[in-house]
Amino acid sequence: MSHENGTHETNVKLFTSEFNQNPYPNFSKLRQEDPIHQTLMPNGHYSWIITRYEDAVAVLKDSRFIKDYTYLLGEEEQEEAHANSSIFVRNMLFSDPPDHKRLRGLVQKAFTPKMIEGLRGRVEEITNELLDRVQEKGQMNLIDDFAFPLPIIVICEMLGVPSQDRDKFRTWSNTLVEASNNPENAEQIQTHMTEFVMYLKQLCAERRQNPKDDMISKLIQSEEEGDSLSEQELYGVISLLIIAGHETTVNLITNGVFALLENPGQKEQLKNDPNLIESALEEFLRYNGPVEFSTDRWASNTVELRGKTIAKGDHVIVALDSANRDPEQFEDPDVFDITRGKSKHLAFGKGIHFCLGAPLARLEAEVAVTTLLRRMPELRLNTDPEALEWRPGILMRGLIELPVQF
Ligand code: HEM
Repeated sequence: MSHENGTHETNVKLFTSEFNQNPYPNFSKLRQEDPIHQTLMPNGHYSWIITRYEDAVAVLKDSRFIKDYTYLLGEEEQEEAHANSSIFVRNMLFSDPPDHKRLRGLVQKAFTPKMIEGLRGRVEEITNELLDRVQEKGQMNLIDDFAFPLPIIVICEMLGVPSQDRDKFRTWSNTLVEASNNPENAEQIQTHMTEFVMYLKQLCAERRQNPKDDMISKLIQSEEEGDSLSEQELYGVISLLIIAGHETTVNLITNGVFALLENPGQKEQLKNDPNLIESALEEFLRYNGPVEFSTDRWASNTVELRGKTIAKGDHVIVALDSANRDPEQFEDPDVFDITRGKSKHLAFGKGIHFCLGAPLARLEAEVAVTTLLRRMPELRLNTDPEALEWRPGILMRGLIELPVQF
């Protein structure tokens, strides 16, 4: 892996706690000064960071950037690496064609816009139940009381996972997504991963005995029927859906509501014209997208990009939240404007790994925000905005807490 040609002297400091609080000034510097930037990551490895919109699209669509690095190894090493790989990567997000298509195909049908639209009534019901619990109190922590439980209950019901176990999932999936920025906590990460795997195995064993009308039972059936899904992949796909269901939509709802509260004029506009919700959601996704950086990719060949040589085997990540603030693509990109309408943001990625859950995330956020503004029209922050903290870790962009009153 090379790291000589790319390192560039900039005064950009990535991945510090200051960066976490507001990455945008540094993203802007990188887009201007070194848009294909190689840097040392918190995990001690070098990585190329892509910050401009045009390059981000090119990389995400380029099949030379692969997801499964084991293809870069010799045959023997490859087998060993596969045997030792964590089950959390045995799914479509960390696979390349043809495995990618096979794995995505197993669950794709459940996530089509039509299937997801069928969940609207249930999503509304859960939304109202959650708001009923806090309405009288006049205040809540928007995350713990609302934005977090809503998508969890929905994905748990779709999969057939007991939603009363959701605190456990929260701990496990938080650990997994924050792991890359947290190398010193290796022991705790290992413990949580082992607990999560044990849980998945137990759940699948139980469901094998007593199949139900849920996605886990259908996946078990695919695993038993033929060669479309191995046992490891069964756990890998379920864990990905649990993690994606936990870590993303919560931030879409929270980051969106926070932006509205910081821009009261826009909040009023949306309250007065709920038809703006579709356009507002796209702006939530663009302005402070829940997934800050794409997941890992590796160059399967040498790739020349904007005069930089990305060598075979080099690690590459795309700063999605930077691409979405690129002035070459979006006018006044740092202005939050819910009336932008159709937007070509990259918050759900691009190319073959484009988010499978996008229709579900959009439906949940639409119902959540519309209902919240209707039922709590006086919604406002219950803290100094300067006191709010953003979560550590580089993958996700989300607040730790959002106290509100209404
Ligand atoms: C606002 C919410 C969400 C955002 C912003 C989001 C974002 C993303 C992004 C950026 C990717 C591509 C990552 C990459 O290429 O490196 C992705 C992939 C994926 N997302 Fe989401 N996601 C959201 C919600 C969900 C939900 C609710 C689910 C399902 C329960 C889900 C399931 C997936 C899956 C399975 C993939 C992998 C697709 C593939 O590899 O073919 N996502 N998501």
